[in-house]
Amino acid sequence: MSLGKKDFLSIADHTPEDLRRILDLAKEQKPLARRHELPHSHPNRTLACVFAKPSLRTRISFETAMMQLGGNSLFITDKEIGLGVRESIYDVAKVMSRFVDGIMIRWFDDGEVVELAKHADVPVINGLTDLLHPCQVMGDILTVEEHLGSIENKTVCMVGDGNNLANSWINASRRFGFNFVLACPEGYEPNEDIMNAAEKDGASFCVMNDPQEAVEGAHVIYSDAFYSMGQEEEAIKRRADFAPFQITTDLLKAAHEKHVVLHCLPAHRGEEITDEVMDGPHSVVFDEAENRQHAQRAIIALLMS
Ligand code: CP
Ligand code: NVA
Repeated sequence: MSLGKKDFLSIADHTPEDLRRILDLAKEQKPLARRHELPHSHPNRTLACVFAKPSLRTRISFETAMMQLGGNSLFITDKEIGLGVRESIYDVAKVMSRFVDGIMIRWFDDGEVVELAKHADVPVINGLTDLLHPCQVMGDILTVEEHLGSIENKTVCMVGDGNNLANSWINASRRFGFNFVLACPEGYEPNEDIMNAAEKDGASFCVMNDPQEAVEGAHVIYSDAFYSMGQEEEAIKRRADFAPFQITTDLLKAAHEKHVVLHCLPAHRGEEITDEVMDGPHSVVFDEAENRQHAQRAIIALLMS
């Protein structure tokens, strides 16, 4: 079994059936992986993990997932590779394809990752760009479904920045049939091309400026940092602009009574989310972190089969 596409760059690139296949495999393998009983289906395969930004979850979940499948992983920084600087993207893609069986990359520019994938002869997986974080949202959907059942027709409400996570949630709403609501300050809306494509597809999503109105009846409340990696210089301005967008116990009173709270992490406790919510009864943030590994292992297994 494999996916219809060679790469995993964006949720929007894949059919609902392929995306469901990933989640089904993740659900099937999770208990086996937890008991250390997963068969080594990918012996002698190597996944290169390239990072231009820091990581805790993405690095460890990809590397351990590869080991669980019986394969190996390599950690490489942008400084070593010099993608597009020391060597052309084309040459790097061709050379890496001779050494490894897959490439996971965390990068700034999404277009450069698309270009790498175009020239690579092995699967390329987006481990976060400024535009997208598709693997995160696959793990998030797995988490939602474990706690609330099928995500179809549920409402996911993100309170915060129209960033790479918001863009990936909009893409996911196109493919999984749920409603997505983003509450963000004016000027921090998601990517326009992504919104236009989703609208054309008939996806159910909306962007508003009032967090109180946005969380009304929502099944999933989603949080992320007010400023992303690479935006550290904007931190002071963003903290002020986003101050009314903190997820608090009070805000959650309007959510569905059986809601879950997710945060992709790392969290800035006391900034975008309070300790009370992070550690509260609706929070599933550590299940969510664990599910990165299970969702990504399924992606690797299907792409590298
Ligand atoms: N959520 C996430 O991608 O975490 P890291 O930045 O630690 O990989
Ligand atoms: N939006 C955040 C997500 C971190 C996992 C960032 O890009 O830094």
